[in-house]
Amino acid sequence: MNSIADSDAYFNPERMLAQHQAALTLLQGMLSDPSITSFRWLDIACGRGQIISHLKTVLSDGYRRKIRYFGYDIDNRHTRTAKRLAESLSFQSLSFEIGDLPRFPSAFPDDSGFDFVTLTNTVHEIDPSRLAGILVDAISQLGETGCFFVYDMETLPSAELGAVLWSASEIKSVIYELCNALGAKDYEPAVGQWQHHSCNGWNVQIRRQHLNCPDVSSLRDTVVESVSRRIRELVEVKLSQTRSALESLTQYGAETGDESNAKDAYLYSFWALTRAKGAQR
Ligand SMILES: C[S@@+](CC[C@H](N)C(=O)[O-])C[C@H]1O[C@@H](n2cnc3c(N)ncnc32)[C@H](O)[C@@H]1O
Repeated sequence: MNSIADSDAYFNPERMLAQHQAALTLLQGMLSDPSITSFRWLDIACGRGQIISHLKTVLSDGYRRKIRYFGYDIDNRHTRTAKRLAESLSFQSLSFEIGDLPRFPSAFPDDSGFDFVTLTNTVHEIDPSRLAGILVDAISQLGETGCFFVYDMETLPSAELGAVLWSASEIKSVIYELCNALGAKDYEPAVGQWQHHSCNGWNVQIRRQHLNCPDVSSLRDTVVESVSRRIRELVEVKLSQTRSALESLTQYGAETGDESNAKDAYLYSFWALTRAKGAQR
């Protein structure tokens, strides 16, 4: 299976999530350049269009008319909702494709590269053995000054079977490995940790120009190999920590409500990591 059944494409048009706000603030800044008349935005795992649902109030008509929006998701029902929303936004153009994440690079016509690539609220749904390839491909789809924005949760408001949750510090070590393998030894994109009401999140933005690596695709295989190795090591460590925590809970029990909640989270995590380890073989 390429996606998890518990995937929760949470969508409340009344409420803008902080992760979408962060991406849209970046977008505002990039679109404010008067010399930009056409702006290519690829939204990977676009879901039901959550990130574009507040664009009418965030961006003027003129800004929205600069945008060529490309949405990609595995779920046709999600993209149908997203397309309906996008059609009301006066974009310069819009296009949606359905497919599995690793195939997104071949889904859209290749011209000058994307100015903005977003991947929000989805990394936990990605099989860790496929994550490195998706990150490298997203970067190689960027134009010369393009920005790749990723945001995901460290913890989920409600547990999802098969979801592998990463902490900001784990993502930091993945991004460090990625930049290093691309030869960008001086570039350290900041990985932020954010505390929300019902969960914690992390984010990173990677700017193509700071990588100083004109041909990412020629390095793809070696970069994917070293980033995947790092991810495998992290899965190993996470699994061993989860096993120890569960062993301790098995022997001594959960004494508080918090420990009891943690027990459920460890059980979900144990299954997701065991499954991820199986997929790596
Ligand atoms: C939690 S939703 C996030 C939607 C949106 N990006 C957001 O910020 O709210 C995760 C999305 O990832 C999509 N997805 C999960 N696995 C996928 C895969 N293997 N290929 C393509 N899309 C996938 C799901 O269909 C879902 O729409």
